[in-house]
Amino acid sequence: MDGKAVDRVVELLSRASQTYALTGAGVSTESGIPDFRSPGTGLWSNPEACSLATGEAFRRDPARFYRFFLPLWRDYRRAQPNPAHLALAELEKLGRLRGIITQNIDGLHRKAGSRVVWEVHGHLEHLICTRCQRPAPFALADEAWEKGDLPPRCSCGGVLRPQVVLFGEPMAADFHRVLVFLRQGCDLLLVIGSSLMVYPVAGLVDYARQLVIINQDPTPVDERATVVLRGRAGEILPRIVSGLRARLLPG
Ligand code: APR
Repeated sequence: MDGKAVDRVVELLSRASQTYALTGAGVSTESGIPDFRSPGTGLWSNPEACSLATGEAFRRDPARFYRFFLPLWRDYRRAQPNPAHLALAELEKLGRLRGIITQNIDGLHRKAGSRVVWEVHGHLEHLICTRCQRPAPFALADEAWEKGDLPPRCSCGGVLRPQVVLFGEPMAADFHRVLVFLRQGCDLLLVIGSSLMVYPVAGLVDYARQLVIINQDPTPVDERATVVLRGRAGEILPRIVSGLRARLLPG
């Protein structure tokens, strides 16, 4: 790992006053959750996954949608935070991170102890009724699966769906909430584990005065970044945070 680049990021973090993190699926791969576009292992290398991950596919055949995604989401909900999530939670505790904007629905930033998290593609905390809009426990999906009675239904009879943003659907409310903060100023944005291929989230980098990109593969924004660190987030972030801690809390 490039020690000079790590030191540079520590320097940027110690000077910045409005730092945010933008995370993608790459921050959760070390928790055993596949990302979407890594060659060969990404979820979208499975054509069925791509065809089912739309609002239209859900409406057309919700049972089939659940049969494909529920096993995957069960793994997400069982997964544990990895050193990358824990390092970002510590960065917030050190007072150097205002919040995390995440594209991930796995809830691992919260599990790691991060308090300010904007889940711009939704979450798996609970289901919501497509008819009466009332929330319902995610466990109803597991029960419907066990009974072979998918899709799960609300007491009003409506089909229950996860509160995740599928292709072709509007962004989650958190996306509009975080824009208010970014418009007030973002002097440093840490982009971690994202291919920055999907808009409108990829466009958030335009709000940042300085960019740090931590990613295993190149991204379309690398040449605009102040620092690019190529490698595993679970290895790089703890190095950055321990360097910052030593600087902020010497002795
Ligand atoms: N450390 C650092 N980077 C990693 C790691 C890791 N351990 N593992 C994977 N990566 C990198 C990959 O190199 C890849 O560039 O993370 C990036 C993940 O990119 P994607 O799979 O495209 O995931 P993401 O950017 O979150 O996708 C955005 O696309 O399909 C939609 O809704 C889906 O939220 C998702 C959005």
